[in-house]
Amino acid sequence: MNKQFEGTILPENQRFSILLSAIFILLKLFLLHCYAAIYNITSSNPLSQNEILISPTQVFELGLFCLDNTTNQYVGIWYKNIAPRTVVWVANRENPVIDSLASLKIGSDGNLKIVDENEVTLWSTNVSVRSNSSVAVLLDNGNFVLQDGLSEQQLWQSFEHPGNTLLPGAGIGYDRETGERRVLSSWKSNSDPSRGDFVTEIVPRSPPQALIWNGSVPYWRSGEWNKLRFIGLQGMDSTYSRAISLVLNDDQESGYFYLSLNTTDTSITILSEGTLKIMSWRKDTGWYSTWKRPNNTCDVYGTCGPFGICKISEFPICSCLEGFVPKSDEEWNKNNWTGGCVRRTELSCLAKTSLEASQGEETDRFWKMNGIKLPDKSKYQDVKDVNECGQWCLNNCSCKAYAYVMNIGCLLWSEDLIDMQELSSGGEDLFIRLASSELGDHIIDLSNIFKMNLVSS
Ligand SMILES: *[C@@H]1O[C@H](CO)[C@@H](O)[C@H](O)[C@H]1NC(C)=O
Ligand SMILES: *[C@@H]1O[C@H](CO)[C@@H](O)[C@H](O)[C@H]1NC(C)=O
Ligand SMILES: *[C@@H]1O[C@H](CO)[C@@H](O)[C@H](O)[C@H]1NC(C)=O
Ligand SMILES: *[C@@H]1O[C@H](CO)[C@@H](O)[C@H](O)[C@H]1NC(C)=O
Ligand SMILES: *[C@@H]1O[C@H](CO)[C@@H](O)[C@H](O)[C@H]1NC(C)=O
Ligand SMILES: *[C@@H]1O[C@H](CO)[C@@H](O)[C@H](O)[C@H]1NC(C)=O
Ligand SMILES: *[C@@H]1O[C@H](CO)[C@@H](O)[C@H](O)[C@H]1NC(C)=O
Ligand SMILES: *[C@@H]1O[C@H](CO)[C@@H](O)[C@H](O)[C@H]1NC(C)=O
Repeated sequence: MNKQFEGTILPENQRFSILLSAIFILLKLFLLHCYAAIYNITSSNPLSQNEILISPTQVFELGLFCLDNTTNQYVGIWYKNIAPRTVVWVANRENPVIDSLASLKIGSDGNLKIVDENEVTLWSTNVSVRSNSSVAVLLDNGNFVLQDGLSEQQLWQSFEHPGNTLLPGAGIGYDRETGERRVLSSWKSNSDPSRGDFVTEIVPRSPPQALIWNGSVPYWRSGEWNKLRFIGLQGMDSTYSRAISLVLNDDQESGYFYLSLNTTDTSITILSEGTLKIMSWRKDTGWYSTWKRPNNTCDVYGTCGPFGICKISEFPICSCLEGFVPKSDEEWNKNNWTGGCVRRTELSCLAKTSLEASQGEETDRFWKMNGIKLPDKSKYQDVKDVNECGQWCLNNCSCKAYAYVMNIGCLLWSEDLIDMQELSSGGEDLFIRLASSELGDHIIDLSNIFKMNLVSS
């Protein structure tokens, strides 16, 4: 009887199970590709695996995601309407969720945290303000904000914890009073968002400048900020000057750099190979780069070594400053310029300390160069004009060069002159101290010397 029963019922059963598995596959596809949208995270409403937090007008979204070829899961923010997915911020970049269901929730202390299915915390906002009514929302500028639900006081925001990307409205910089340092740090690789080798920071000096570090070695620098632009950047025209700003407080104790744009589709990213790029997005072209540094070998910090200067249109690109010769001819001729150059004639002010002091009134002179990306490690000196600046430098034997820059004033160098470029447009005048015998009686213009070098070589 059983057999008979089976005999008639099996085909039905098979059809049913085929139908069932079809529904199951469809359901799975639906779950994989269709997330439930939520607009905030509260203590009673966490963000779980198949949910997406969306900004009010659907510009950005935040959720769990995996990177190419890995199963590591991260909580991140990306553009809702830009494909392929462009991640601009990652919460647990050092601590992925591995082989587990994860959720982002508000803990009993009011902090946001990412927990796996065993309730192990992988990341937390970890702020000390206790709140029993925290709410987390994603703003339309890409800022993920944790606030107190009642007072609306901000407890934490992702814009104060940038990853490798700076969105308009977020800042990187420093506050010497609180000790805060906000930097961009590169991903290890395209499939690993943990901190890589490169960091972009605003150096907390007066005046400040932007610097890319490769580990503990400087890789690129912008030159000082003159309240309008970074003075070491060629082609920093008014379009860029309007698009960027560095906000210093009155006593210069804090400085923050911003992309001052009223859009969301432009950003600055430090890539894992060390390049700092401004990227913009258009519907017809997708992402394109409008600016990047370093852009060539001359942009790389210290390519020509101490007292060497780089010019990308010359070959070789490095030469020694007037009055200086390669430290090692052998290395220099192999196009290894990092050893740099040394002074041909000792400075008169040093010689004066010895016997020669009695042999006349020889003083050092300054060699003027135009259109220069000024060397690193300048010190600001508060004097009234360029002459006083020069006099100040001359009076101190450890002063090796000076410059007087519009909107900044007097800069002096007492360390080796490093990371200079001859720019084809823009740039500053630099006055280099030389023994007077190197100059004859005249301060000669640099352009003549380059012509002379070309003729004689
Ligand atoms: C992922 O793997 C594919 C095939 O092996 C490879 O072509 C692709 O470059 C990988 N992607 C990343 C980001 O490593
Ligand atoms: C949270 O912050 C405290 C100090 O404010 C620090 O000691 C602790 O290590 C932090 N915890 C995590 C997980 O970052
Ligand atoms: C939240 O905290 C406040 C003050 O700490 C307390 O008065 C209130 O009862 C708390 N609310 C809940 C729901 O726990
Ligand atoms: C960064 O530094 C590392 C280690 O010092 C070096 O191997 C690498 O070539 C550097 N990267 C660049 C882009 O210069
Ligand atoms: C930014 O754009 C919006 C809409 O286009 C406009 O209403 C607003 O005034 C702009 N803000 C600034 C600072 O330009
Ligand atoms: C980048 O470098 C190339 C030469 O290597 C130069 O032609 C180009 O103008 C540079 N771009 C910028 C923005 O400086
Ligand atoms: C380049 O020269 C420096 C010293 O001037 C030396 O330390 C370095 O090893 C040289 N690099 C190469 C690749 O030869
Ligand atoms: C000369 O300059 C050096 C370096 O900036 C400084 O340490 C020193 O005090 C200065 N000497 C005088 C006499 O101003």
